[in-house]
Amino acid sequence: MFSLSIGPDAELRPLEVWHTEELADHLDRAREHIRPWVGPSFVTDTVEGAAATLSRYATATATDGARLYGIWCEGRLVGGVMFVAFSAASGVCEIGCWLEPGAEGRGLVSAAVGRLLDWALLERGLNRAEWRCRADNVRSAAVAQRLGMTLEGTLRGTWRRGDTFHDTQVWALLQSERRQASPSSVTPNPATTTRTSSR
Ligand SMILES: CC(C)(COP(=O)(O)OP(=O)(O)OC[C@H]1O[C@@H](n2cnc3c(N)ncnc32)[C@H](O)[C@@H]1OP(=O)(O)O)[C@@H](O)C(=O)NCCC(=O)NCCS
Repeated sequence: MFSLSIGPDAELRPLEVWHTEELADHLDRAREHIRPWVGPSFVTDTVEGAAATLSRYATATATDGARLYGIWCEGRLVGGVMFVAFSAASGVCEIGCWLEPGAEGRGLVSAAVGRLLDWALLERGLNRAEWRCRADNVRSAAVAQRLGMTLEGTLRGTWRRGDTFHDTQVWALLQSERRQASPSSVTPNPATTTRTSSR
């Protein structure tokens, strides 16, 4: 229900509070693989932690903010994509992602992020989608590049992991660029777009 096909036997669906057990089980498979590369609040160790993540996103989604989507392959939750931040008022969103190791290398995240870009930039009419990754996260940067994002700069010493401060790359794609890449794209729906002047 409410799913988008992103490949053979692969679906993108909202990841919600009722998926708590599934997310906790998935994190048991993904935790150590994703820990160095994603925000610490996402890498929880318990069912309660998974519930807290889903509840946090549900609350944000209810006010047209952050959103979380799972990727299911052959019926199993293997990763996901999210709007880490989403602001119709400012016209800017930030997208993030993760996969368990066995699901890498199949184009799942690139396909899923493509769907988020189309929805945010073309349907909702936001102006800019950002992608922030640790500067040494080669696979993440490859996703941004594959989707036509531009590397706009590197923020030095902004990604803390323990006692180490890593650099952060900032990639972004503008609505005009996405529109050029998808000429048959829909016109933004005025009913779903908030004026950019209402910052
Ligand atoms: C970042 C991450 C999601 C990228 O995963 P990924 O599998 O490389 O990305 P995709 O799902 O888009 O798949 C792309 C890969 O599938 C291959 N592929 C196969 N079919 C494909 C298709 N139809 N379309 C695109 N790529 C395809 C690509 O060649 C690429 O593999 P390669 O890098 O070995 O050439 C994953 O490495 C991860 O979860 N890392 C840890 C968490 C993390 O870093 N999150 C991001 C924080 S900023």
